[in-house]
Amino acid sequence: PYLNLLAKAKGKLWFGTATDIPGVEQQDQEYMSILNDSKIFGQLTPANAMKFQFTEPEQNNFTYAGGQEVIDLAKQHGNRYVRCHNLVWVTEVSEWVLDRNWTAEALTEVMKNHIYNVVTHFGDSCYSWDVVNEALNDNGTWAPSVWFDTIGPEYFYKAYQFAEEAVKLTGKDIKLYYNDYNIEYPGPKATGVVGLVKELKRRKLKIDGVGLETHYEVGTAPSYEQQIEASKMYTALGVDIARTELDVRFTQLPYNSSGLALQAKEYYDAVKSCVDIRQCIGMTVWDFVDKYSWVPGTFPGKGGADIYGLGNSNYTRKPAYYAVGDALAGH
Ligand code: G3I
Repeated sequence: PYLNLLAKAKGKLWFGTATDIPGVEQQDQEYMSILNDSKIFGQLTPANAMKFQFTEPEQNNFTYAGGQEVIDLAKQHGNRYVRCHNLVWVTEVSEWVLDRNWTAEALTEVMKNHIYNVVTHFGDSCYSWDVVNEALNDNGTWAPSVWFDTIGPEYFYKAYQFAEEAVKLTGKDIKLYYNDYNIEYPGPKATGVVGLVKELKRRKLKIDGVGLETHYEVGTAPSYEQQIEASKMYTALGVDIARTELDVRFTQLPYNSSGLALQAKEYYDAVKSCVDIRQCIGMTVWDFVDKYSWVPGTFPGKGGADIYGLGNSNYTRKPAYYAVGDALAGH
Protein backbone atom coordinates (compact mmCIF):
# COMPACT_ATOMS: atom_id res chain seq x y z
CA PRO A 1 0.00 0.00 0.00
CA TYR A 2 1.10 3.52 -0.82
CA LEU A 3 0.39 5.43 2.37
CA ASN A 4 0.37 8.94 0.97
CA LEU A 5 -1.80 8.03 -2.01
CA LEU A 6 -4.28 6.38 0.34
CA ALA A 7 -4.31 9.41 2.66
CA LYS A 8 -4.97 11.75 -0.24
CA ALA A 9 -7.78 9.55 -1.48
CA LYS A 10 -9.39 10.09 1.92
CA GLY A 11 -9.17 13.87 1.49
CA LYS A 12 -6.09 14.33 3.70
CA LEU A 13 -3.24 16.59 2.64
CA TRP A 14 -0.62 13.96 3.37
CA PHE A 15 0.84 10.95 5.00
CA GLY A 16 4.37 12.06 5.81
CA THR A 17 7.53 11.49 7.80
CA ALA A 18 10.09 13.34 9.83
CA THR A 19 13.68 13.01 8.73
CA ASP A 20 16.90 13.88 10.56
CA ILE A 21 18.63 15.37 7.55
CA PRO A 22 21.38 16.58 7.30
CA GLY A 23 22.78 13.32 8.67
CA VAL A 24 24.15 9.87 7.95
CA GLU A 25 20.83 8.93 6.39
CA GLN A 26 21.93 10.66 3.20
CA GLN A 27 24.53 7.95 2.55
CA ASP A 28 21.87 5.26 2.92
CA GLN A 29 20.42 4.71 -0.54
CA GLU A 30 17.56 2.53 0.59
CA TYR A 31 16.54 5.12 3.17
CA MET A 32 16.66 7.89 0.62
CA SER A 33 14.68 5.98 -1.99
CA ILE A 34 11.83 5.41 0.47
CA LEU A 35 12.03 8.96 1.85
CA ASN A 36 11.82 10.35 -1.66
CA ASP A 37 8.90 8.19 -2.75
CA SER A 38 6.02 10.63 -2.81
CA LYS A 39 3.54 7.78 -3.13
CA ILE A 40 4.51 6.75 0.40
CA PHE A 41 5.37 10.11 1.99
CA GLY A 42 3.71 13.31 0.83
CA GLN A 43 5.16 15.55 3.51
CA LEU A 44 8.44 15.98 5.39
CA THR A 45 9.26 17.44 8.78
CA PRO A 46 12.87 18.26 9.62
CA ALA A 47 13.40 16.34 12.88
CA ASN A 48 16.09 18.76 14.02
CA ALA A 49 17.41 21.05 11.29
CA MET A 50 15.07 23.99 11.86
CA LYS A 51 15.33 24.06 15.64
CA PHE A 52 16.75 27.14 17.34
CA GLN A 53 20.30 25.93 17.88
CA PHE A 54 20.64 24.90 14.26
CA THR A 55 19.09 28.02 12.75
CA GLU A 56 20.63 30.60 15.11
CA PRO A 57 23.79 29.02 16.55
CA GLU A 58 25.20 32.46 17.31
CA GLN A 59 23.14 35.49 18.06
CA ASN A 60 21.68 37.00 14.92
CA ASN A 61 23.78 34.69 12.76
CA PHE A 62 21.30 32.50 10.94
CA THR A 63 22.05 29.20 9.22
CA TYR A 64 19.37 27.86 6.97
CA ALA A 65 21.20 25.25 4.91
CA GLY A 66 20.07 22.21 6.88
CA GLY A 67 16.42 23.18 6.80
CA GLN A 68 16.73 24.00 3.12
CA GLU A 69 18.02 20.49 2.39
CA VAL A 70 14.81 19.04 3.75
CA ILE A 71 12.74 21.53 1.79
CA ASP A 72 14.66 20.69 -1.38
CA LEU A 73 14.06 16.97 -0.93
CA ALA A 74 10.38 17.64 -0.38
CA LYS A 75 10.03 19.88 -3.43
CA GLN A 76 12.25 17.94 -5.83
CA HIS A 77 10.48 14.66 -5.28
CA GLY A 78 6.83 15.37 -5.92
CA ASN A 79 6.42 18.96 -4.71
CA ARG A 80 5.57 17.77 -1.22
CA TYR A 81 4.51 19.64 1.90
CA VAL A 82 6.88 20.62 4.70
CA ARG A 83 5.79 21.09 8.29
CA CYS A 84 8.37 23.43 9.76
CA HIS A 85 9.47 22.54 13.28
CA ASN A 86 9.89 24.51 15.56
CA LEU A 87 10.37 28.13 16.69
CA VAL A 88 10.15 28.14 20.50
CA TRP A 89 10.90 25.09 22.64
CA VAL A 90 12.71 24.19 25.85
CA THR A 91 15.13 21.90 24.03
CA GLU A 92 17.77 22.59 21.36
CA VAL A 93 18.12 26.21 22.41
CA SER A 94 21.53 27.70 21.58
CA GLU A 95 24.15 27.98 24.31
CA TRP A 96 24.30 31.74 23.88
CA VAL A 97 20.68 31.93 24.97
CA LEU A 98 21.11 29.64 27.95
CA ASP A 99 24.41 31.13 29.12
CA ARG A 100 23.16 34.62 29.86
CA ASN A 101 20.87 36.21 32.45
CA TRP A 102 18.31 37.94 30.29
CA THR A 103 15.70 40.44 31.31
CA ALA A 104 12.23 39.53 30.12
CA GLU A 105 12.37 42.39 27.62
CA ALA A 106 15.74 41.35 26.17
CA LEU A 107 14.77 37.69 25.81
CA THR A 108 11.48 38.69 24.22
CA GLU A 109 13.52 40.60 21.63
CA VAL A 110 15.66 37.49 21.05
CA MET A 111 12.53 35.45 20.47
CA LYS A 112 11.07 38.07 18.14
CA ASN A 113 14.24 38.35 16.09
CA HIS A 114 14.47 34.58 15.77
CA ILE A 115 10.87 34.14 14.73
CA TYR A 116 10.89 37.03 12.26
CA ASN A 117 14.08 35.87 10.56
CA VAL A 118 13.32 32.18 10.32
CA VAL A 119 9.68 32.54 9.28
CA THR A 120 10.35 35.18 6.64
CA HIS A 121 13.38 33.28 5.33
CA PHE A 122 11.59 30.01 4.64
CA GLY A 123 8.33 31.70 3.65
CA ASP A 124 5.72 29.46 2.16
CA SER A 125 8.13 26.61 1.67
CA CYS A 126 6.59 25.87 5.05
CA TYR A 127 3.01 24.71 4.96
CA SER A 128 2.96 25.41 8.68
CA TRP A 129 5.14 26.27 11.66
CA ASP A 130 5.06 24.67 15.06
CA VAL A 131 5.36 28.02 16.83
CA VAL A 132 5.57 26.86 20.43
CA ASN A 133 6.39 23.23 21.08
CA GLU A 134 5.50 21.35 24.27
CA ALA A 135 4.64 24.28 26.55
CA LEU A 136 2.78 22.26 29.16
CA ASN A 137 3.46 19.65 31.82
CA ASP A 138 1.34 16.52 31.84
CA ASN A 139 -0.83 18.04 34.59
CA GLY A 140 -1.64 20.99 32.35
CA THR A 141 0.54 23.60 34.08
CA TRP A 142 3.23 25.62 32.30
CA ALA A 143 6.44 23.67 31.72
CA PRO A 144 9.74 25.27 32.67
CA SER A 145 12.01 26.57 29.90
CA VAL A 146 14.33 29.51 29.46
CA TRP A 147 11.40 31.26 27.81
CA PHE A 148 8.85 30.62 30.53
CA ASP A 149 11.29 31.08 33.40
CA THR A 150 12.42 34.46 32.11
CA ILE A 151 9.33 35.93 30.50
CA GLY A 152 6.48 34.08 32.19
CA PRO A 153 3.33 32.87 30.40
CA GLU A 154 3.33 35.89 28.13
CA TYR A 155 6.18 34.30 26.20
CA PHE A 156 3.64 31.93 24.73
CA TYR A 157 1.28 34.60 23.41
CA LYS A 158 4.16 36.81 22.27
CA ALA A 159 5.53 33.92 20.21
CA TYR A 160 2.24 33.64 18.32
CA GLN A 161 2.02 37.40 17.93
CA PHE A 162 5.51 37.53 16.41
CA ALA A 163 4.85 34.53 14.21
CA GLU A 164 1.67 36.11 12.91
CA GLU A 165 3.47 39.38 12.22
CA ALA A 166 6.21 37.49 10.37
CA VAL A 167 3.68 35.56 8.30
CA LYS A 168 2.07 38.88 7.35
CA LEU A 169 5.47 40.16 6.20
CA THR A 170 5.71 37.21 3.80
CA GLY A 171 2.30 37.94 2.34
CA LYS A 172 1.77 34.16 2.17
CA ASP A 173 -0.59 31.72 3.78
CA ILE A 174 1.44 29.87 6.40
CA LYS A 175 -0.39 27.99 9.12
CA LEU A 176 0.55 28.36 12.77
CA TYR A 177 0.34 25.33 15.05
CA TYR A 178 0.74 24.41 18.67
CA ASN A 179 2.41 20.98 18.98
CA ASP A 180 2.54 18.65 22.00
CA TYR A 181 2.44 15.03 23.24
CA ASN A 182 0.11 13.27 25.68
CA ILE A 183 -2.72 15.42 24.36
CA GLU A 184 -4.19 12.72 22.11
CA TYR A 185 -6.63 11.62 24.84
CA PRO A 186 -8.78 13.59 27.31
CA GLY A 187 -7.04 14.64 30.49
CA PRO A 188 -5.50 17.64 32.21
CA LYS A 189 -2.95 18.25 29.48
CA ALA A 190 -5.55 18.16 26.70
CA THR A 191 -7.70 20.51 28.77
CA GLY A 192 -4.68 22.76 29.16
CA VAL A 193 -4.20 22.90 25.40
CA VAL A 194 -7.86 23.78 24.94
CA GLY A 195 -7.22 26.67 27.33
CA LEU A 196 -4.21 27.85 25.35
CA VAL A 197 -6.11 27.80 22.07
CA LYS A 198 -9.07 29.60 23.61
CA GLU A 199 -6.82 32.29 25.04
CA LEU A 200 -5.04 32.75 21.69
CA LYS A 201 -8.44 33.16 20.07
CA ARG A 202 -9.66 35.53 22.79
CA ARG A 203 -6.63 37.68 22.06
CA LYS A 204 -7.43 37.48 18.35
CA LEU A 205 -4.08 35.88 17.60
CA LYS A 206 -3.55 33.48 14.70
CA ILE A 207 -3.76 29.80 15.63
CA ASP A 208 -4.59 27.41 12.82
CA GLY A 209 -4.01 24.03 14.32
CA VAL A 210 -2.97 21.69 17.09
CA GLY A 211 -0.33 19.06 16.40
CA LEU A 212 -0.95 15.82 18.26
CA GLU A 213 2.49 14.26 18.39
CA THR A 214 1.26 10.71 19.04
CA HIS A 215 4.31 9.09 20.62
CA TYR A 216 2.88 5.93 22.16
CA GLU A 217 4.15 2.88 24.02
CA VAL A 218 2.96 -0.56 22.96
CA GLY A 219 0.20 -1.69 25.32
CA THR A 220 -0.71 1.72 26.71
CA ALA A 221 -1.87 3.71 23.68
CA PRO A 222 -5.22 5.47 24.09
CA SER A 223 -8.25 3.85 22.52
CA TYR A 224 -9.79 4.99 19.24
CA GLU A 225 -12.71 6.46 21.21
CA GLN A 226 -10.44 8.46 23.51
CA GLN A 227 -8.55 9.81 20.54
CA ILE A 228 -11.74 10.86 18.78
CA GLU A 229 -12.95 12.56 21.96
CA ALA A 230 -9.74 14.55 22.42
CA SER A 231 -9.60 15.43 18.72
CA LYS A 232 -13.08 16.93 18.92
CA MET A 233 -12.06 19.04 21.93
CA TYR A 234 -9.70 20.87 19.57
CA THR A 235 -11.71 20.91 16.37
CA ALA A 236 -14.68 22.32 18.31
CA LEU A 237 -12.57 25.46 18.75
CA GLY A 238 -12.37 25.90 14.99
CA VAL A 239 -8.77 24.75 14.49
CA ASP A 240 -7.35 21.95 12.38
CA ILE A 241 -5.44 19.08 13.89
CA ALA A 242 -2.69 16.80 12.57
CA ARG A 243 -0.84 13.74 13.81
CA THR A 244 2.67 15.11 13.77
CA GLU A 245 5.14 12.62 15.29
CA LEU A 246 3.50 9.20 15.23
CA ASP A 247 5.44 6.22 16.56
CA VAL A 248 4.66 3.34 18.94
CA ARG A 249 7.68 2.07 20.88
CA PHE A 250 8.20 -1.21 22.64
CA THR A 251 9.17 -0.91 26.30
CA GLN A 252 10.88 -4.29 26.15
CA LEU A 253 12.99 -5.73 23.39
CA PRO A 254 13.13 -7.94 21.49
CA TYR A 255 9.49 -7.86 20.51
CA ASN A 256 7.52 -10.93 19.49
CA SER A 257 4.68 -11.50 17.05
CA SER A 258 1.91 -10.71 19.53
CA GLY A 259 3.70 -7.47 20.37
CA LEU A 260 3.87 -6.60 16.70
CA ALA A 261 0.15 -7.27 16.36
CA LEU A 262 -0.64 -4.99 19.30
CA GLN A 263 1.65 -2.29 17.92
CA ALA A 264 -0.11 -2.59 14.56
CA LYS A 265 -3.50 -2.14 16.22
CA GLU A 266 -2.28 0.94 18.06
CA TYR A 267 -0.98 2.46 14.84
CA TYR A 268 -4.30 1.57 13.23
CA ASP A 269 -6.36 3.32 15.92
CA ALA A 270 -4.23 6.46 15.81
CA VAL A 271 -4.45 6.72 12.02
CA LYS A 272 -8.14 5.80 11.89
CA SER A 273 -8.95 8.51 14.41
CA CYS A 274 -7.39 11.04 12.03
CA VAL A 275 -9.03 9.56 8.95
CA ASP A 276 -12.45 9.79 10.62
CA ILE A 277 -12.17 13.48 11.54
CA ARG A 278 -12.46 15.87 8.62
CA GLN A 279 -10.38 18.60 10.27
CA CYS A 280 -7.48 16.20 10.87
CA ILE A 281 -5.47 17.23 7.84
CA GLY A 282 -2.63 14.72 7.82
CA MET A 283 -0.46 12.22 9.61
CA THR A 284 3.30 12.18 10.01
CA VAL A 285 5.51 9.42 11.45
CA TRP A 286 8.57 10.53 13.41
CA ASP A 287 10.91 8.88 10.94
CA PHE A 288 10.01 5.55 9.41
CA VAL A 289 12.75 3.03 10.19
CA ASP A 290 13.94 1.81 13.59
CA LYS A 291 17.55 2.26 12.57
CA TYR A 292 17.17 6.04 12.77
CA SER A 293 14.51 6.31 15.46
CA TRP A 294 15.01 8.85 18.25
CA VAL A 295 13.67 6.37 20.82
CA PRO A 296 16.75 4.35 21.88
CA GLY A 297 18.74 7.56 22.36
CA THR A 298 16.14 8.97 24.74
CA PHE A 299 14.78 5.78 26.30
CA PRO A 300 17.60 3.23 26.48
CA GLY A 301 16.31 -0.31 26.04
CA LYS A 302 13.13 0.79 24.31
CA GLY A 303 12.59 0.92 20.57
CA GLY A 304 11.17 -0.89 17.59
CA ALA A 305 8.81 2.07 17.26
CA ASP A 306 8.73 2.60 13.52
CA ILE A 307 6.86 1.08 10.59
CA TYR A 308 9.99 -0.26 8.84
CA GLY A 309 12.78 -2.43 10.27
CA LEU A 310 11.13 -5.71 11.17
CA GLY A 311 13.40 -7.85 13.34
CA ASN A 312 16.32 -5.47 12.83
CA SER A 313 16.16 -6.04 9.12
CA ASN A 314 16.95 -2.80 7.46
CA TYR A 315 13.79 -2.00 5.62
CA THR A 316 11.27 -4.81 5.95
CA ARG A 317 7.81 -3.42 6.64
CA LYS A 318 6.22 -4.31 9.95
CA PRO A 319 2.58 -5.30 10.48
CA ALA A 320 2.17 -1.68 11.64
CA TYR A 321 2.89 -0.48 8.10
CA TYR A 322 0.07 -2.59 6.70
CA ALA A 323 -2.23 -1.59 9.56
CA VAL A 324 -1.66 2.06 8.68
CA GLY A 325 -2.51 1.19 5.09
CA ASP A 326 -5.72 -0.53 6.20
CA ALA A 327 -6.75 2.44 8.35
CA LEU A 328 -6.08 4.85 5.49
CA ALA A 329 -8.01 2.66 3.07
CA GLY A 330 -10.95 2.56 5.44
CA HIS A 331 -10.79 -1.18 6.16
O1 G3I B 1 24.35 15.25 16.02
C1 G3I B 1 24.87 14.88 17.31
C2 G3I B 1 26.05 13.96 17.16
O2 G3I B 1 27.09 14.64 16.50
C3 G3I B 1 26.51 13.50 18.56
O3 G3I B 1 27.52 12.59 18.43
C4 G3I B 1 25.33 12.86 19.27
C5 G3I B 1 25.70 12.41 20.67
O4 G3I B 1 24.87 12.95 21.65
O5 G3I B 1 24.25 13.78 19.35
C6 G3I B 1 23.77 14.19 18.08
O6 G3I B 1 22.73 15.12 18.28
C7 G3I B 1 21.49 14.57 18.69
C8 G3I B 1 20.43 15.02 17.71
O7 G3I B 1 19.18 14.55 18.14
C9 G3I B 1 20.68 14.50 16.29
O8 G3I B 1 20.53 13.12 16.23
C10 G3I B 1 21.18 15.10 20.07
O9 G3I B 1 22.10 14.61 21.02
C11 G3I B 1 19.78 14.67 20.45
O10 G3I B 1 19.43 15.30 21.68
C12 G3I B 1 18.79 15.08 19.38
O11 G3I B 1 17.55 14.53 19.76
C13 G3I B 1 16.41 15.03 19.07
C14 G3I B 1 15.39 15.49 20.11
O12 G3I B 1 14.20 15.87 19.47
C15 G3I B 1 15.89 16.69 20.90
O13 G3I B 1 15.92 17.81 20.11
C16 G3I B 1 15.84 13.92 18.22
O14 G3I B 1 16.74 13.62 17.15
C17 G3I B 1 14.50 14.33 17.66
O15 G3I B 1 13.90 13.23 17.04
C18 G3I B 1 13.59 14.79 18.81
O16 G3I B 1 12.36 15.18 18.29
C19 G3I B 1 11.38 15.60 19.24
C20 G3I B 1 10.56 16.69 18.59
O17 G3I B 1 11.40 17.74 18.14
C21 G3I B 1 9.52 17.24 19.55
N1 G3I B 1 8.70 16.17 20.08
C22 G3I B 1 9.42 15.03 20.64
C23 G3I B 1 10.43 14.48 19.65
C24 G3I B 1 11.12 13.25 20.20
O18 G3I B 1 11.89 13.56 21.34
